[in-house]
Amino acid sequence: MTTLSRHQQQLVNNSIKLIQSAFERHPAHNIAISFSGAEDVILIDLMSQLEQRCEVFSLDTGRLHPQTYRFIETVRNHYDLPIKIVMPDSNDVAELVQQKGLFSFRNDGHEECCAVRKINPLRSKLAQLDAWITGQRIDQSVTRTELAEVHMDGVFDGRNGDLEKFNPLANWRSADVWDYIHARQVPYNPLHEQGFISIGCEPCTRAVAPHEHERAGRWWWESATHKECGLHRQNLIAHG
Ligand code: ADX
Ligand code: SF4
Repeated sequence: MTTLSRHQQQLVNNSIKLIQSAFERHPAHNIAISFSGAEDVILIDLMSQLEQRCEVFSLDTGRLHPQTYRFIETVRNHYDLPIKIVMPDSNDVAELVQQKGLFSFRNDGHEECCAVRKINPLRSKLAQLDAWITGQRIDQSVTRTELAEVHMDGVFDGRNGDLEKFNPLANWRSADVWDYIHARQVPYNPLHEQGFISIGCEPCTRAVAPHEHERAGRWWWESATHKECGLHRQNLIAHG
C-alpha cells in the first residue's frame, strides 16, 4: 500500500484546514464543492474526514463520458452523498445544436458550447452561494501558475454579490494526488487507466501520451494558453 511522505501529509492537513476554514467563514449550506468527476474526488474524500458537509454538484453538460456518469454514481454511493446534477437550459442547448450542429466547437472554438452547457448553469448555481470549492491545481496548466488557495472570484457573483473561491488542492502535484488516491483507496474514474489525465467532455478530451502535458488532451485543436472553458476564466485574466 502507498504511504504518504511527511510533505504529502502536510499537504493533506493544510487542505483539510482550508476546507474547515471555508465552513468557519460561511454557513455550510451556502458553500458547495464543484466536482468534475475526475481526480478532484479528493475534495470529497477530504471533506468526509470533517464533521460538517456541504453540497457537491456536478455540471452535466450532456457530453460527459459514460465512465464519468458511472463514476459520479460510484462516488455518490461510496460517500453516501447526494451529488447535485446541474443541467444546462434545454432550450439553449436545442437552439445551439439546431443552428450549429453537435460539434460546432471544432470549427469556431469551445467558448460558445461551454457557455451554454457549463458556464450559464454554473453562474445560476453560484448565484445561490457564498463560496465554492474547486479542485484546480497550479501544476495543471500554464493558465494556473498564479492560482491562490483562497481568493475572491472575480468572474462570478455569489448570493450577496461577493463569492469566495477555495482551491484546497492548489499546491498538490499530480503525483501527490495519485499517492493520496492509492493510500486512502479513494475510488477513481476508470478513464485514468486508459491514458486520460485531465477529464472533461467526451468530444473535447483525449488520452495523452506519457511525454505530453496533461492539458494536451483537452481541446487539443486550440492553443495551450486558451485552455480554460470559462469555469475558471479568472486564470486567463490573471495570466494576461
Ligand atoms: S475545466 O475548466 O478545464 O473544465 P478542470 O477539468 O481542469 O476544469 O477542473 C478543475 C475544477 O473545475 C474541478 O476540480 C472542478 O472543481 C471544476 N469543474 C470542472 N468541470 C466540472 C464539472 N463538469 N462539474 C463541476 N465542476 C467542474
Ligand atoms: Fe461543449 Fe466541449 Fe465545452 Fe463540453 S467541453 S461544453 S462539449 S465545448
